[in-house]
Amino acid sequence: MPRILHLSDIHFGRERPALARHLLAQAAEMVPDLIAISGDLTQRARRHQLAAARAFVDALPAPVLVVPGNHDIPGISIRRLLDPWRRWRSDFFAETEPTFRGAGMTVLGANSVRIGGPYLDWSRGKLKPAQIDALAAKFSAASADDLRVLVMHHPLLLTEAARHRGLVGSAAQALQRLAAVGLDLALGGHVHLPYAASEAGVVIAHAGTGISDRLVGAPNGFNLINADRHFIEVEQWTARSGRFEPEQQQRFPRRRVNVDKA
Ligand SMILES: [Fe+2]
Ligand SMILES: [Fe+2]
Repeated sequence: MPRILHLSDIHFGRERPALARHLLAQAAEMVPDLIAISGDLTQRARRHQLAAARAFVDALPAPVLVVPGNHDIPGISIRRLLDPWRRWRSDFFAETEPTFRGAGMTVLGANSVRIGGPYLDWSRGKLKPAQIDALAAKFSAASADDLRVLVMHHPLLLTEAARHRGLVGSAAQALQRLAAVGLDLALGGHVHLPYAASEAGVVIAHAGTGISDRLVGAPNGFNLINADRHFIEVEQWTARSGRFEPEQQQRFPRRRVNVDKA
């Protein structure tokens, strides 16, 4: 019965300290098997912001899997071009694509952040073909009964209203390929709007901004996800008057597929 606490876009540098403290206490009460943080841990990857994010992660009660978001590399600068992950890797989080195995889950982190591209919105992300290949190979090799979970900052699916933010590059190819190797659940953020839906048999859940003041039409929140052999349940928790409360629960059937070999 895997249980995941899914946080996103905590944006240290724009955090709400009281809400951060409340979230730490709330997380301890939930006793999750894993806490997944789907990127944008900082506002601009400054050393003190990364240090605050690292201290927050260290205070969380369960194993934590962290992937970066577009805010976790330097702004326009030489460092962004030449070595955007130096500070992240050497001083704070070591990896950009971590893996967690345990509690009936195989959880893979993917780094969808790009330093720029031939478009105006440099916040957008992309998956490279080699990344999709590697994810497919790892999911394919996972234990047959494991819940297969992808954690990535940029969205694989968006509501019609949020479509202008853009899906992660190669979203359709990634979804098709990973669905074929049994992906059950994809966790993301970036647009700061909570959302859960099923596409190609994969449950896709976004969390809003966990504790930052960068609100864009939805309050602070996170997801609590419970899965068993038959269902995946996504419970949205929302901050009201400084306290997180469960607000909405969506239940999706957990498919059983004949998993292709990657
Ligand atoms: Fe964000
Ligand atoms: Fe983002």
